[in-house]
Amino acid sequence: MNKLEKMISKTVNKVLGTMSQDESGGSLGSREVSQAMADAARQAAAEGIVLLKNDNGALPFGTDERISVFGRIQKDYFAVGYGSGGDVNEPYCINLIDGMKAAGMKTDSELERIYADWIERNPADHGFWGFWPRFHDEMPLDRETVASAAARSDAAVVIIGRSAGEDRENVLKKGSYYLTDTELDMLEKVTAEFKKTVVLLNCGNIIDMSWLESFGNRIQAVLLVWQGGMESGRAVADVLSGKISPSGKLSDTIASRYEDYPAANNFGKRKFNNYAEDIFVGYRYFETFKKDAVMFPFGFGLSYTEFDFSDISVECADGTATVSLSVKNTGGMAGKQVVEVYRSAPSGKLGKAKRELTAFCKTRLLSPGEEQQISMSFKAETMASYDDSGKSGFKNSYVLEEGEYGIYVGEDVRSCVKAGAYIQEKTVAVRRLSEPADCAPKASFERLTAVSDKNGSAMAAYEPVPLAETRRAQSVLHNIPEAPEYTGDTGIKLQDVVGGEASLADFAAQLDDKELEALCRGDYTMNSPLGTSGNAAVYGGILPSLRDKGVPPVTATDGPSGIRLHCYASLLPIGTLLACTWNTPLVEELYRQVGAEMSKKGSDVLLAPGMNIHRDPLCGRNFEYFSEDPLLTGEMGSAVVRGVQSNGVSACPKHFACNSQETNRTRTDSRVSQRALREIYLKGFEICVKEARPLNIMTSYNKLNGVWSHYHYGLCTQILRNEWGYDGCVMTDWWMRASRDPDFPLLRNNAYRVRAQVDVLMPGAGAGSRKRKYDPTLLESLGKDGGITRGEIFRSAVNTLRFVMRSKPFATENNRANTYHPGEQWFEVE
Ligand code: BGC
Repeated sequence: MNKLEKMISKTVNKVLGTMSQDESGGSLGSREVSQAMADAARQAAAEGIVLLKNDNGALPFGTDERISVFGRIQKDYFAVGYGSGGDVNEPYCINLIDGMKAAGMKTDSELERIYADWIERNPADHGFWGFWPRFHDEMPLDRETVASAAARSDAAVVIIGRSAGEDRENVLKKGSYYLTDTELDMLEKVTAEFKKTVVLLNCGNIIDMSWLESFGNRIQAVLLVWQGGMESGRAVADVLSGKISPSGKLSDTIASRYEDYPAANNFGKRKFNNYAEDIFVGYRYFETFKKDAVMFPFGFGLSYTEFDFSDISVECADGTATVSLSVKNTGGMAGKQVVEVYRSAPSGKLGKAKRELTAFCKTRLLSPGEEQQISMSFKAETMASYDDSGKSGFKNSYVLEEGEYGIYVGEDVRSCVKAGAYIQEKTVAVRRLSEPADCAPKASFERLTAVSDKNGSAMAAYEPVPLAETRRAQSVLHNIPEAPEYTGDTGIKLQDVVGGEASLADFAAQLDDKELEALCRGDYTMNSPLGTSGNAAVYGGILPSLRDKGVPPVTATDGPSGIRLHCYASLLPIGTLLACTWNTPLVEELYRQVGAEMSKKGSDVLLAPGMNIHRDPLCGRNFEYFSEDPLLTGEMGSAVVRGVQSNGVSACPKHFACNSQETNRTRTDSRVSQRALREIYLKGFEICVKEARPLNIMTSYNKLNGVWSHYHYGLCTQILRNEWGYDGCVMTDWWMRASRDPDFPLLRNNAYRVRAQVDVLMPGAGAGSRKRKYDPTLLESLGKDGGITRGEIFRSAVNTLRFVMRSKPFATENNRANTYHPGEQWFEVE
């Protein structure tokens, strides 16, 4: 923060306290956390740590090594990012120095005291909403202090911290993407005096690492420890001390310079951003066109032990590829390893990325000498590309072009080796679809594609992005549902529907317009009196007459890094760290614990997981999201949803879709080709919807190809429901932008939204309003020629009711077990 921001911060915080819905005051209850939760959080926080460099076995530290810890972040640790996704009342939070000491590591107490004194005189300012600090000013070091610490110790740990968040983008400045001069000076002085220096990066995003090259072998080891939640310090100590061998792998590429990232020229613009890099996001770009720009490739991460992959075979039969292999721990320490499977593809008519992740799995903990057989299978059609141009002969279809799809197996995208191939005899469309409304750009730009040069190598080329051809109005009019006739109260209760005594339609036919309207929004404000204190919203039975009919109110809370309520709740590792574990069973277990905690604390819906793609390292909310890769994103999101929902409560993946930046987030337009949308930005959601069946989905703030997501018929009806078969509840992100439907001018705001089957406005007051205020826009055109129909309102109300019937409060009220049925796996692991 600059001086002005600090001054404002002090004043604002004095007046307001922190900005959140948590204004209830009073006690936050018990700080107790279940042992199972603490264990899962610690294990996950440790498994997501990525060891980027470890020269001459610098790590783990020996039990007798004396360690000087530099950097104020040892105490002012960033355990999570900012905003709704991190605003949890954590019961405790272990920082680095305490974690190391608790693990019995020999840290230098004199240096610790010097930092403690300085921090007391220079306390961290925690800012306020949208103006949180991206870093904390570092303590300047003098040579004497460093030299005397070096005389007392065998090694140095230097920790550097960063944070960003909602409404708080990372920026290309010192103290955000770049190191500050004081941080560089700290590295300079420490590496000059110490023979062994280990650097820890405590951040939520990828930051510049070019300094690493200039320090060369003066820095022996680097750990990307991310932000690990309440167990951070213990987890880092587990890895530093060698209690756990690191097994995290990067979920994003680390490039040498920011300018090398493919979205760099089209990111952060206020009005619109052309997604000109198209499908070439992250490693898809670097591996295809710019290998030399990579410092650490996607999927990379070192271990303290060694692994050998042997007997690798690939079998292809009946449109399914099966990869089998044996993984052996050939080193001297127990550890886990990730097996990553990538595909290459024939260059064909549709430009393709050189590698694409198609399956992965993590071994169990293998002791030295121990071996594990692994088998992974995936359908060939998951390797198909989406043709939005018609070049392959199959417009608007997923197409497997003829030729060889190489199957590569390895430890990261760069070092994986070819283990076999799937041969596609002739080009086929594996899924024929049509272009949904507003899912292609309306103004032209050139998008990146790959063409083959005369040696068959991929070359970057640009082609005009296919422009939108579909008109929404006709499709809407063809799909207006009928509503059953209004019956008035016939005495049917919602529980009668479960008992099979009445249909959901019969139940809903009793509801008058006021009741239907109320099912299409939440209660008016955050921290609704109808729900648990500190809630983000309450929906479902928000009117007494609905409750009389057996519709309970349902409480929603943030997520993803813990439950945001007016009570203590576990603070979890951030999404990026979880993705770096590549361990879906572990993430599922962690969120099963979250589910249990939700039941206990009164949260029925967790507004999580965050599933947007890391399009660019500067996006402030990347910490909440998983990866630059959609398969890893989809699998992680599925694990979270399965974990939460297996406990009877429910999840709400967000932000659907293309919330790739925080700059002007409620107005900026993400202009994306249909191909990039389907292969990159929606694919994670598609996997999650099909595999894990989330009961809710939240739209995003931004526009997608000119239409706000909360009005997006193409996205929320044509793709989500008609193509993917989703039958849950779709809610807006908090409040929405007012707008008139361009095709049907009688419809505005809530009617425009419900026409798209964005069922619930959150919270519930009018667009943008934070007051308890009825918004007439849903019903105002009802019954008018060209207005919203009762059928459409009925359809969204039924979507909400269907969710309510699967919710925890309904199960509790009716004394039923809440069973959860996950869907089919995208790929299988044995
Ligand atoms: C965020 C959502 C969050 C909601 C409720 C919004 O500002 O974008 O992710 O769930 O607030 O707190």
